[in-house]
Amino acid sequence: MNMATIVGSITCSHVPAIGRAIAKNLQREPYWKPFFDGFPPVHAWLAQAKPDVAVVFYNDHGLNFFLDKLPTFAVGAAPEYRNADEGWGIPTVEPFAGDPALSWHIIESLVADEFDVTTCQEMLVDHALTLPMALLWPGGGEWPVRIVPIAMNHVQHPLPSPRRCYRLGQAVGRALDAWDDRARVVVLGTGGLSHQLDGERAGFINRPFDLMCMDAIVADPEKLTRYSTLDIVREAGAQGTELMAWLAARGALTGRVTRIHSNYHVPISNTATGLMVLQNEPPGAPQARAA
Ligand code: DHB
Ligand code: FE
Repeated sequence: MNMATIVGSITCSHVPAIGRAIAKNLQREPYWKPFFDGFPPVHAWLAQAKPDVAVVFYNDHGLNFFLDKLPTFAVGAAPEYRNADEGWGIPTVEPFAGDPALSWHIIESLVADEFDVTTCQEMLVDHALTLPMALLWPGGGEWPVRIVPIAMNHVQHPLPSPRRCYRLGQAVGRALDAWDDRARVVVLGTGGLSHQLDGERAGFINRPFDLMCMDAIVADPEKLTRYSTLDIVREAGAQGTELMAWLAARGALTGRVTRIHSNYHVPISNTATGLMVLQNEPPGAPQARAA
């Protein structure tokens, strides 16, 4: 059989202001440079990892799902995904090609694994998907990978727990390992790190907690599954729960994991921005060189 290869994960923040900075070419401005400087090593890694497909864990912020109907976990199964104006003043991007065969394989595997996901044969994708894609593959034009979006509810309580999100990622990893296709798959997780956009703690950032989480995601992700959702709200802010997308992406790495690159910069807009590349090697593969 030609089995799929999980090449690794890339996790990063998705602050809308990044879209305006890209549109206005502000990457070298002092405010933006420490953030955008995190990405050339990611581009170098992608050039050798050569993924064909990206499975993207993210949260929709009201573009496709609103508070009236908000699935806990939703998997895209569309041939194409578009974004739309969310009111942030950022340009829309080229549509993304889907991979319906992989989407349905993942959906069947997840449901068999007792994750009762919502399946979306039409789905708009918001800044949480489009901005990380634009950061990873800058320059516009056609996207070099097909995508499978997996939206998680990090907006309206009750949210799925850190443990549940990690287990979802592990179930996706099992599905990818069982996918009879020669494709190379990169797993993305977007959001975070610590931030709170409203209320008394608006602007809240917790650097020690973020850095602890980045380390734990590499070496001991189970440690983070012992935090409750409210623990994450307390430690990382109300929107810091987006950290769970990092945990889901890490869960999908089924082999030996090496940190290739990471960057952490505070703040962009109201957010502590994190970036991390993890390489995944099936047992028996030669050791990766850590940066
Ligand atoms: C910001 C951060 C987010 O995660 C988001 O979805 C919207 C805005 C911000 O810091 O401005
Ligand atoms: Fe967000």
